[in-house]
Amino acid sequence: MNTPPDQYGVVGHPVAHSLSPFIHGMFARDTEQNLVYRLHEVPPERFRGYVLEFFARGGRGLNVTLPHKEAAASLANDLTPRAERAGAVNTLMLLEENRILGDNTDGAGLVSDLQNNLRVPVEQRRILILGAGGATRGVLGPLLMREPAQIVVANRSVKRAQTLLADFCDLGPVRACGFDELPAEAFDLIINATSASLSGEVPEISADVLGAHSVCYDMAYGKSATPFVRWALERGCARAVQGLGMLVEQAAESFELWRGVRPQTAAVLSALRRHAAEGRN
Ligand code: ATR
Repeated sequence: MNTPPDQYGVVGHPVAHSLSPFIHGMFARDTEQNLVYRLHEVPPERFRGYVLEFFARGGRGLNVTLPHKEAAASLANDLTPRAERAGAVNTLMLLEENRILGDNTDGAGLVSDLQNNLRVPVEQRRILILGAGGATRGVLGPLLMREPAQIVVANRSVKRAQTLLADFCDLGPVRACGFDELPAEAFDLIINATSASLSGEVPEISADVLGAHSVCYDMAYGKSATPFVRWALERGCARAVQGLGMLVEQAAESFELWRGVRPQTAAVLSALRRHAAEGRN
């Protein structure tokens, strides 16, 4: 008799365009795991009840995306240290005795994309992160763990950056500033963690932070180059990439947590890049 597949999925609002079912579908095929992964479109007011029912009915794991990452952190019975530090959860997993574990794989996904796919080191590098919202909160801990020389978090509202850093300054050399207070010297790595790309905008920063050796990374991604990637390339940085690799790597981290098997990511990433390139035509 065939065993029914284990149930997984992603909860978000909106979630219809999520690439996660494609990514996890490929991981499951490649690693021969018997699972299904579905989209769950759930508004904030139904989030808690929906998730509890999903697990009560035997669901095994969920990815959580906007706007539910903080609600998922309060729903989980246990948090991994990195999820606790981030105050946000992108992965839920059913444990023994119906306890629900919350993890945050976003930062590990970014670090893995930088180090393993792009061969961009973090150790001893000067890093500038733009934005001080949930996206920055998710990646700051794992970046600081790799012992960069310094991380500067710049935000339109400097107060928000300062508040955020209060939770991270014990982990390493990190400081906050406003866009107008940025030092006029090039950073090795500049990460756009603002949501500016969503509205087709670029954070208003001086190009002095960018040199010929700088690598620019946009946590957002799109069918063609994001506004930040275009901005950086036009100003002569070494490389500018968008965050499709981070998406695939954070998914691989979640998959490994759930199934105990590490999926290969290269084929999935090339399939998504091909897909994006075809969509452009
Ligand atoms: P997310 O979870 O995606 O990080 P968020 O918590 O709402 O979303 O945070 C959005 C971040 O993008 C904030 O740092 C915001 O800056 P402010 O705190 O000053 O509002 C930043 N942001 C959004 N649009 C921006 C823009 N056009 N230029 C610069 N920063 C922008």
